[in-house]
Amino acid sequence: MPAHIKPRSLTARRKGPLRGTASVPGDKSISHRALILGALCVGETRIGGLLEAEDILNTAEAMRCFGADVARGPDATWIVRGTGVGGWAEPKETLDFGNSGTGSRLVMGAMATTPITAELTGDESLRRRPMKRVLEPLTKFGAEYSAREGGLMPLSLKGARRPICVDHEVAVASAQVKSAMLLAALNAPGRSRIVQRALTRDHTEKMLQAFGAEISVEALADGGEAIYVTGEVDLKPCAIEVPRDPSSAAFPLVAALIVPGSEISIPGVLLNTRRIGLIDTLREMGADIRIDNARESGGEKIGDLVARFSSLKGVDVSASRAPSMIDEYPILAVAAAYAEGRTTMRGLEELRVKESDRLAAIVAGLRANGVNVEETADGMIVEGRGPDVEGGGHVATHMDHRIAMAFLVMGLASRKPVTVDDVSMIATSFPEFEKLMRDLGADFSAVKT
Ligand code: S3P
Repeated sequence: MPAHIKPRSLTARRKGPLRGTASVPGDKSISHRALILGALCVGETRIGGLLEAEDILNTAEAMRCFGADVARGPDATWIVRGTGVGGWAEPKETLDFGNSGTGSRLVMGAMATTPITAELTGDESLRRRPMKRVLEPLTKFGAEYSAREGGLMPLSLKGARRPICVDHEVAVASAQVKSAMLLAALNAPGRSRIVQRALTRDHTEKMLQAFGAEISVEALADGGEAIYVTGEVDLKPCAIEVPRDPSSAAFPLVAALIVPGSEISIPGVLLNTRRIGLIDTLREMGADIRIDNARESGGEKIGDLVARFSSLKGVDVSASRAPSMIDEYPILAVAAAYAEGRTTMRGLEELRVKESDRLAAIVAGLRANGVNVEETADGMIVEGRGPDVEGGGHVATHMDHRIAMAFLVMGLASRKPVTVDDVSMIATSFPEFEKLMRDLGADFSAVKT
């Protein structure tokens, strides 16, 4: 049964310090891409450390529906045998992406230049999220679509029969949209050019290189980038080792900073410069975060994080930081609540169209726990309470895993316990969250109904 059918609420309360090692699961962005690129080559792609969470399992299932062989080996290595660029078969059933914007949008791109038609849908949250941002640009390659009013799922996408290459500037600061265009370009004859003004995560570019695509990136004078992809080039399977997800590490990390006496380590975390805006911001707030053993793995920077309880102070977070910490604002807002002084966050328009309207959900959650916050046109201003956060709130998560995890972390240091209405969505990205946090010393208890 999909997790979202049965809501389950949970209460977090203050106890002793958090101690130990938090081995968070594999990176969600890289896991989606590894499965999709594996399905786009002929031969065997082996993936170690794949995130085994609902969003990724839905992408794996979609790859099977397109004709790839996807299997989990006994040592938890995943093996994908794909059918090649342009070789995907037409799915017989509707593809259900559950809660995942990334899985669904990347797959739309990957199939948009192959002459097949697919029906795509998702859960209640995904069916509310904008798809035109991907579908419209994909029509430039020759794809066609029909969707619900407003470009919403369920939708039908018909891949181009005779694809053409494109010259396109991505209109929103979105790695998903950019990646969909790059994947579509793989089967369009000629060289496509995709321009991005904001530097969003570059895992697709890096992984395409590793799979032998003809791809190059040119830095533009205004700070943006033009990415060139030559179509109709065969991809070569390769071995992928997925680093641990910094967006999941963010929750135990902030928990250690706000619970007095804590010290935890989080090994092998992805430290791609386009993903570590939260670490930079927390350090500016005075956080004691150390990076040990900085190294490279599979073309990505990784390292071991050590975080200790810290006295935080409020800071001004510029809009330019948003792309590198776009998923981390819920947990940053919690850190800001425990800081002395005011934290201002800007450039957060995209938060309105995540798994929930995250701006509204964060503001409501903070207020429910006695934290003053002002919602501005493009962000929020949090009045930090220092160590004295009241808590006691009931937080509505709106089918959003990160809202659930962020407010459970808040409850680990607040005077009164914090309850979130539904933790079932956490399984979409971080199924181990509850156990991992309990092993560090967190007090979570089920709400008796
Ligand atoms: C992702 C990109 C981001 C992020 C999402 C993962 C990706 O979305 O919020 O969780 O893997 O490309 P946008 O590209 O829509 O900002």
